Amino acid sequence: MSLKFITAEEAADFVKDGDNVGFSGFTPAGAPKIISAAIAEKAIAEHAKGNPFMIGVFTGASSGNSLDGALTRAKAIKFRAPYQTNKDMRAAINKGEVQYEDLHLSEMAQQVRYGFLGKVNVVVIEACDVTQDGKVYLTTAVGNVPTYCRLADKILIELNSHHSKGLIGMHDIYEPADPPYRRELGVYTPSTRIGVPYVQVDLSKIAGIVESNVPDEARGFVAADEITTKIGQNVAAFLANELKIGRIPSTFLPIQSGVGNIANAVLGALGQDKDVPAFEMYTEVIQDSVIELMQQGRIKFGSCCSLTVTDPCLQQIYDNINFFKDKVIMRPAEISNNPEIIRRLGVISINTAIEADIYGNINSTHIGGVKMMNGIGGSGDFTRNAYMSIFTCPSIAKEGKISAIVPMVSHLDHSEHSVKVLITELGVADLRGKSPVQKAHAIIENCVHPDYKQLLWDYIKLAGTGHTPHRINAALAFHVALAQKGDMKAVNWADYEK
Ligand code: COA
Repeated sequence: MSLKFITAEEAADFVKDGDNVGFSGFTPAGAPKIISAAIAEKAIAEHAKGNPFMIGVFTGASSGNSLDGALTRAKAIKFRAPYQTNKDMRAAINKGEVQYEDLHLSEMAQQVRYGFLGKVNVVVIEACDVTQDGKVYLTTAVGNVPTYCRLADKILIELNSHHSKGLIGMHDIYEPADPPYRRELGVYTPSTRIGVPYVQVDLSKIAGIVESNVPDEARGFVAADEITTKIGQNVAAFLANELKIGRIPSTFLPIQSGVGNIANAVLGALGQDKDVPAFEMYTEVIQDSVIELMQQGRIKFGSCCSLTVTDPCLQQIYDNINFFKDKVIMRPAEISNNPEIIRRLGVISINTAIEADIYGNINSTHIGGVKMMNGIGGSGDFTRNAYMSIFTCPSIAKEGKISAIVPMVSHLDHSEHSVKVLITELGVADLRGKSPVQKAHAIIENCVHPDYKQLLWDYIKLAGTGHTPHRINAALAFHVALAQKGDMKAVNWADYEK
C-alpha cells in the first residue's frame, strides 16, 4: 500500500463535528500547523452555513497559535485537555466557552487508554519522515502520539521539511501496558533507552500525508533580569551547599526545570554556578538555556518530552546535530514525566509558583483563585515524586501590588506535604523537617518582600494557635484587598479582629 499525499483542506475533511482529535506536539514544539489551521477554516465555513462544528482537542501539552489559537478563534473546541498556554484559549476557558480539564501530563495517555475521555476519532501528527511500512519519525516532541495513533481510526500526517531528518534516532518510543499487565519501566539513568526511535502505525489507518515547510511556533523568552538572575543564584547556592554537606551525592542528581521565563532564567543561572558540577536533566521540556549550557559542557545530557526552543536555537541544533544526537532523548509524556522513574532517579525538581502561602502550599495555575493561567503541566508529576521539590517565584508581582506569598493560597496545586524548598530573589526557605508554624517563620523571614513582612507577621499573631494556624475569615484578606483596593498592602487586620 503506497502513502497518499493530499492537501491540508482534504485532510481537514476527515474531521467531523463532534470528533475527538488527538494532536502531536508538546508545547508548540512538534505540533501540527497547517492541518490544524485547515480544520479551523473548515469550522468557520461550517458555522457560516449554520452547521455545528466543534471538536475535542487532545494534545501532549500546550500547542501553537495555528492549533489552539486558530481553533479557539474559530469557536471549534468543545473540550480541551491536558494543558494550554494560548492567550485566546485562556480567554475562552475563563469565559466558559471551552471546557478544559487541567491534567497531570503524565496521566493523559493512560486516561485516554482507560476510556475516561471518550474515543479518539482522528489523530493529526507532525513527522520528519514516514516509511512505506508505517514507521513515523516525529519532530521536536513526542507528547502522547503513540497512544493517540494506536487508538484513532484515522491518522493524518503533516510531513514538515523545515525539520532536519537528523532528528531520527533522538526519540525513544515506548507505551506501557495497562494494569494489571504493566511492568516496571527500566529507566535507570536519564540516558537509558527502553523503546524504539519511531512510532509504528497501522498503515491502513493513514488517511493522507500533507507536505509542509513551517517552523515551530515556540515563543522567545524575556531576557533574565536582576530578579530572575538573583532567584537562579539563590537556587544554585542552595544546591551547591546541599552537595557540600553531602545531602546531594557527589555525582549530583538529575535536574527537572519548569516552563516559562523564570524557569529559563533560573536554569541559566544554575548552569553558570561553578560550585554546581556539570549535571544531567530528566525533565519535561528543554528550553533555550539548556542548549546553551550543553554547548558549554555544563549540562551533560537531557531526557525530555520536547525540544521547546526558539527557531534560531533549533537551527543551531540542526547545524550541530552530531553534537546533540547523543545528548538528548525525547520520550512520550508518560515516560518523561513518569512518577516511578522520577522517584527512582532522585530528580531535583525546580518549578515556578504563581503564589505560595506561608505554610508552603503552592498555586501554579490560577490568578486570584479563579482565572486559569496555563495549567498544572508536569509540575505535579515532578513535585510529588522528586528527591527534593523546589518552587521559585519573585516575591512580588505587578509593581508590588501583589505579594506572591500570602496567608492562604487562592487555589491549591501542590500541597505543603510535597513542597520542600521555596526560593525567591530574597532568599531560601528550607521547609524540610519543620512543622507548619516553623515553615511559616522560615518563609516570612527569608522569602517575603519587605513591604509585606510585617503584614504577614501580624497575620500569624491574628491566626492564633493550631497545628496550621489560620483566622479563616482573614485567610484570603490579601486577595480581598487587591480586588477592592487594587493593592494587597491595603489589607487592614483590624477589620478581621472581631
Ligand atoms: N498574581 C497575579 N499575577 C501574577 C502573579 C500573582 N501572584 N504572579 C505572577 N503573575 C503574572 C506575572 O505578572 C505575569 O503577568 P504578565 O503576563 O501580565 O506579565 C504572568 O503572571 C506570568 O509571569 P512570568 O513572570 O512571565 O512567569 P513565567 O513565564 O515564568 O510563568 C507560570 C510562570 C507559573 C505561569 C508558569 O511557570 C506555569 O504556567 N507553570 C505551571 C506549569 C508548570 O509548572 N510546568 C512545568 C512542569 S515541567
